[in-house]
Amino acid sequence: MEDLTLRHPAELRLEDLEKRFGATAAVDRLNLLAEAGSLVALLGPSGCGKTTTLRMIAGFERPDHGRIVVASRDITGLPPHRRALGMVFQNYSLFPHKTVGENIAFGLRMSGMNRADRDEEVRRMLNLVQLSGYADRYPSQLSGGQQQRIALARSLVPNPRVLLLDEPLGALDKGLRESMQFELRSMQQRFGITTVLVTHDQEEALSMSDRIAVMSKGRILQIGSATEIYDRPATRFVAEFLGASNIFEGRPVDGEAGTQIEIEGSNGSIICIEAPIARSADDRIVLSVRPERVLIGPAAEMLSNRLQAKVLSAAFRGTYAAYQLHVPALGREIYAYRQADGPLGALAFRAGDHLVAGWRTNDSVVVEEDT
Ligand SMILES: Nc1ncnc2c1ncn2[C@@H]1O[C@H](COP(=O)(O)OP(=O)(O)O)[C@@H](O)[C@H]1O
Ligand SMILES: [Mg+2]
Repeated sequence: MEDLTLRHPAELRLEDLEKRFGATAAVDRLNLLAEAGSLVALLGPSGCGKTTTLRMIAGFERPDHGRIVVASRDITGLPPHRRALGMVFQNYSLFPHKTVGENIAFGLRMSGMNRADRDEEVRRMLNLVQLSGYADRYPSQLSGGQQQRIALARSLVPNPRVLLLDEPLGALDKGLRESMQFELRSMQQRFGITTVLVTHDQEEALSMSDRIAVMSKGRILQIGSATEIYDRPATRFVAEFLGASNIFEGRPVDGEAGTQIEIEGSNGSIICIEAPIARSADDRIVLSVRPERVLIGPAAEMLSNRLQAKVLSAAFRGTYAAYQLHVPALGREIYAYRQADGPLGALAFRAGDHLVAGWRTNDSVVVEEDT
């Protein structure tokens, strides 16, 4: 196999980056470090500023404030073509009337490389994306996944220092998207190229990234590895956007064992649950409990955090069962995901069943309320 590793992977830093459109800040004093050779995902809902951030890095949008630094060099003022960046978008943006080979060689021709060298480079890139022999086809003769690989090959031709991917797999259907996730990631690692991936798909971010930056309203709320962010979400938004969460909000009271939260239940009652902190000075605490941490039935009966509940609905989801439970004392629903036990498709509980639901205190996380 050819050695494709870049000799000098570059670190990318965004410092206090800001972009306003009229009164609203699309990107609001954003700071980010992508270590050399790593893949960082910008993950957030539509409109949170991901594409604007990427366009500023690429040079298509001028920041109102802040700096973009690649390998210690400030590139904020450089035109796009002098930034040594590769870009891939959701819609591939291949030239439809050029062959695959001409698409890949386009930038090389512009830079004045001779024919033989161009052909050699096209061959090398097609080999890299496992489409050797496709040089004379047209984009319309390729599947979506193949077109996206060609777009990737084209973006890597000029030997960029940083690769920018904006929802690159968004147009593909689920099965293909998953295999392309593995493929893109393995190419990124073989190439050793610093990459920023923009996505609103949490699974894509979780499975492809070294680090994930969760964005909301132009800001990064939390940045960390997939497991750090999933297991230790910092804010309520992060807990609910990345995976599902049961959120409990209440007033802390210091008890013998530590802090407990008093939650106002239905018809004026007070429900007490334990928080995984020793003491609290705040006047409100927000707790997040992942549905897969909620135990139900006999497994929950010995827990100190337990609630009487009634199954509203039970859904078989292949590798697990999802239960929607009504908790009368709280006048609300909570969710529990359990691995399917027994024969596939068999649900341990059904709608209408009464059961106990609970969780270990250490399986809950204190999160901040988003501002
Ligand atoms: N050229 C523009 N003119 C005015 N508003 C824009 C422009 N580009 C983006 N916006 C606004 O900036 C915000 C962030 O947009 P964008 O970066 O595209 O978000 P995302 O990629 O996360 O969906 C949105 O509110 C969007 O409407
Ligand atoms: Mg976008």
